[in-house]
Amino acid sequence: MLRGLSQVSRAIPARWLYDERGSELFDAITRLQSYYPTRTETALLERIMPEIAARVGPGRAVVEFGAGSLTKTPILLEAVKPALYVPIDISGDYLRASAAELAVKLPHLPIHPVEGNFGNSLELPAEAAPLPKLGFFPGSTIGNFVPRSATDLLRHFRETLGTGALLLIGMDRVKPVERLIAAYDDAEGVTAAFNCNLLTRINRELAGTIPLDAFRHEARWNDILSRIEMHLVATRDVDFSVEGRPFRFAGGSSIHTENSHKYGPRGGRMLLLAGGWTPLAEWTDHARDFAVVLAEAQPHRFAP
Ligand code: AVI
Repeated sequence: MLRGLSQVSRAIPARWLYDERGSELFDAITRLQSYYPTRTETALLERIMPEIAARVGPGRAVVEFGAGSLTKTPILLEAVKPALYVPIDISGDYLRASAAELAVKLPHLPIHPVEGNFGNSLELPAEAAPLPKLGFFPGSTIGNFVPRSATDLLRHFRETLGTGALLLIGMDRVKPVERLIAAYDDAEGVTAAFNCNLLTRINRELAGTIPLDAFRHEARWNDILSRIEMHLVATRDVDFSVEGRPFRFAGGSSIHTENSHKYGPRGGRMLLLAGGWTPLAEWTDHARDFAVVLAEAQPHRFAP
């Protein structure tokens, strides 16, 4: 966090938004009327699951990058009838809690959680080795990575799952700016609280002296990079310290706290291809707000 605050253009990696309060606030965001991605993807998954199950077949190891959600994950697991479910998350407590809740919903499914950073290539449990794999990465979380990191991430997924694996991934689509801004700067102020909570966290965990009223939440559409950016904008000139280091922000300058990239159909598919995944099928809701793509880690071939 400190390194990010010291850069010329100040930016803090978005993962710092998710302390306990941040995770609660994100949960509240997913239930907002203006935040369309969660409900749109959930309804889409429900609708297309018979087709996905027919393509994927039973008996796979389903590997979820992130701890499973109690709404989306069971939709997949109940339909594709896997032999094994492997959720991967860096937060052991959160991972075990969500695995325990899923076990109640799906008592006959063996669950083998892996505590680790899914941003690296990981070793799966031995029980998964002989099984064909299906990766699951819902939520449009891929959009929170800049394309260079998103490509690396997809390549790590490929290394973790192996050649021949399938990947089911959610991607948010480009749409009119007003709708995007409404989703990331909601009238209820929940996203603003989510963003501003980062300052509270810095003050608490890094002995910061940031006056909370000196920053406000801003959601910006960056058209050239096709992404929503969250910023904390200084409302006036402000001085504060973090771990004893002094910082000065001029009024109007900002801390960049998150990117949420939005993909058109071709951009999304190109990203997958660059990450080593060949799209096989793609589904969207009727308004084309959100896409779910099924892709395959095909053997690398020499280019023609
Ligand atoms: C977690 N991620 C997919 C969310 C998104 O839409 O990019 C995070 C979020 N930030 C503000 N609202 C939601």
